[in-house]
Amino acid sequence: MAKILITGGAGNIGSALAKRLVEHPEHDVLVVDNLSTGSLSKLPTGRPNLRFVRADVNDIHTVTSIVVRHAPDYIFHYAAVVGVQRTLQNPIAVLNDIKGIQNILELAKNTGVKKVFYSSSSEVYGEPVEMPQREDVTPLNARLPYAVVKNIGECFCRSYQQEHGLEFVIFRFFNTYGPDQTPDFVLPRFLQKALRHEPIGVFGDGSQTRTFCYVTDNVDACVAAMQSDSCAGQVINIGSDIEMTILDLAKMIIARTGSRSRIEHLPPLAEGDMRRRCPDVTKMRQLIGRPLVSVEEGIDRMAAHYRTAS
Ligand SMILES: NC(=O)c1ccc[n+]([C@@H]2O[C@H](COP(=O)([O-])OP(=O)(O)OC[C@H]3O[C@@H](n4cnc5c(N)ncnc54)[C@H](O)[C@@H]3O)[C@@H](O)[C@H]2O)c1
Repeated sequence: MAKILITGGAGNIGSALAKRLVEHPEHDVLVVDNLSTGSLSKLPTGRPNLRFVRADVNDIHTVTSIVVRHAPDYIFHYAAVVGVQRTLQNPIAVLNDIKGIQNILELAKNTGVKKVFYSSSSEVYGEPVEMPQREDVTPLNARLPYAVVKNIGECFCRSYQQEHGLEFVIFRFFNTYGPDQTPDFVLPRFLQKALRHEPIGVFGDGSQTRTFCYVTDNVDACVAAMQSDSCAGQVINIGSDIEMTILDLAKMIIARTGSRSRIEHLPPLAEGDMRRRCPDVTKMRQLIGRPLVSVEEGIDRMAAHYRTAS
């Protein structure tokens, strides 16, 4: 029996991970989430090996009793304030997440956790210096609070390993989308607008590029990393390496859904909208051992999900 704690497990990626992990009867999964952006509806029901506790991981008193009682073997620390606009508008709340990272690592050290998996972000690379962005080579030049916090989280993981021997794996997530993602993120936002035939707003000329990783690819890679001893101490980019402009994404969504939406260009964002992003996913591809889901396929799956749900 492996006891697993997922913080932020009622969110988009955490809930997909929880769903996958509880399929295995030998996994005992506890999700801790404050439901600030997550929702209980994203978690499967009727699973005896899945429990949920509503709590703020940044509050040491609450989280201590939860971790001590569950005594996890593995922790996936995914709880964070997320979303470009939300993180730009709430920098102090974002910085407060440093407490959660410290809490989790300190408790992991004290309770004999075997490994902590930390969700960092492509944002740590800041403005692109080279493409593709490689885990161990590309310089990190992040400045915005969200990215700085993720970078500090990575430093904390390395420091706890160095001083206390606590094993870790750092996942640098690049844009990951899925049916349970909120419209704070670009792909679900564009898709929901397209299905309603509403105008799709693109910041600036839309020439900024991103890659889009379907959530099952993310989860398969992270679960494989949990099962592989060779990943300990590594940083792993988790994303897609098919780079496309935001304008092309909007056009692709309109074409694939047969939408009558038109594209509206909005003023460029003052900050937080990096020109380019594209990871080197060599390590992830080795972990996952199958082709990644294409954006076209991902859009079709998401559109089918929204149509069924409405
Ligand atoms: N989705 C992406 O493209 C992406 C990209 C880079 C990094 N990430 C990182 O991956 C992780 C998961 O992101 P997501 O896309 O699933 O976002 P999400 O908003 O769906 O999930 C985050 C979850 O954390 C919870 N949460 C936030 N603060 C909390 C706190 N203090 N205590 C307890 N729960 C808290 C929220 O309620 C939510 O359920 C985050 O750490 C995020 O920074 C995601």
